[in-house]
Amino acid sequence: MLELKNIKAVYNDIVLALDDVSLTLEQGSVVVLLGSNGSGKSTTLKSISGVLRIEDGELTEGIVELDSHRIDRLNPEQIASLGIRHVLQGRSIFPQLTTEENLLMGAYLRRDRPGTRKDLEQVYEHFPKLAPLHDRKSGYLSGGEQQMLVIGRALMSHPKIMLLDEPSLGLAPNLIGDLFSILKQIKDAEKTSLLIAEQNAAAALAIADYGYVLQSGRIVASGKAESLESYAKVKRAYLGLDKNGAFLSRHDFRQKITDDDTEA
Ligand SMILES: Nc1ncnc2c1ncn2[C@@H]1O[C@H](COP(=O)(O)OP(=O)(O)OP(=O)(O)O)[C@@H](O)[C@H]1O
Ligand SMILES: [Mg+2]
Repeated sequence: MLELKNIKAVYNDIVLALDDVSLTLEQGSVVVLLGSNGSGKSTTLKSISGVLRIEDGELTEGIVELDSHRIDRLNPEQIASLGIRHVLQGRSIFPQLTTEENLLMGAYLRRDRPGTRKDLEQVYEHFPKLAPLHDRKSGYLSGGEQQMLVIGRALMSHPKIMLLDEPSLGLAPNLIGDLFSILKQIKDAEKTSLLIAEQNAAAALAIADYGYVLQSGRIVASGKAESLESYAKVKRAYLGLDKNGAFLSRHDFRQKITDDDTEA
C-alpha cells in the first residue's frame, strides 16, 4: 500500500505546487487523480517516484510511505527498484530504437533472456497492435502506439505500482476507451496497482475504484469512483465537463461557470 501523508511540494524554493496532499493507493486498486492544468497532478506523481528533486522541487512537509516504510528520502532508482514505475507525461520513447528495443529497455534490470521473451509476449498480448510493429523504428509510431509502447515498457519490469501521467493525452476519443480498458485488463491480470493522473475524468473514473480531485495543489474532493462520477459539482466546477462527460474547452468552461452562476 502506498500512502502520501500531508505532503507539501515546492519548486525552486518558492513555487508552492502541493499543499497538504494526502492519498492512499491500496494494493491492486486503481486510483485516479483529477484536476485541470497546473493543479498538481504531475507533481504528486513526481513526489512519489522521486523525480521531483531532479526538477528542482522538494517535499518540504509530509511523508510518502510504501508498505509503512518511508520512501520520500530515496532517489528515483531506489524507488524504482521497490517496484514503483513512473510513466511520465508525454511519450518519452527512444525514437531511433525499434518498438521491441524500447520494450527491452524496460527490462534492463533483468538478465534472463527466456523470462524477458515471456514478458515481451505478455506485453504484446495486452497491446496486440504493437506486435506487428516490433521492428519498426518507434519514432515512426503514431501517438496512440507510442503511448501503448511507454506503458508496455513500464510493464516489462513487473511493477507493483504504476504511476501513469495523463495516458489519454492527445489520443482520439475511440482510442481513449481502448487504452483504459487495456489498463483495467493489466491491473486484473498483473495485479498492478495504478495511480492515474488524468484530465479525462469520464474515461478514468470508468475503471477507477477511488478518485481525488486536485485544485491549485490541494485536494478539494475525494471518494469512490461512482460517487465522484455523480458529484455534479466536481464535474462542472472542477473538471470542466459537459453533461456527457466530455472535457470543455477553456472558453466553453468559462461560459458554463457563468451560466451556472446565473442559474443559481
Ligand atoms: N519544474 C517546475 N518548476 C517550477 N514550477 C513548476 C515545475 N513543474 C510544475 N510547476 C508548477 O507547479 C504547479 C503544478 O504543476 P503540475 O505539473 O503538477 O500540474 P498538472 O496538474 O500536472 O498540470 P497539467 O494537467 O498541465 O499537466 C503549476 O503551477 C506549475 O506551474
Ligand atoms: Mg501534468
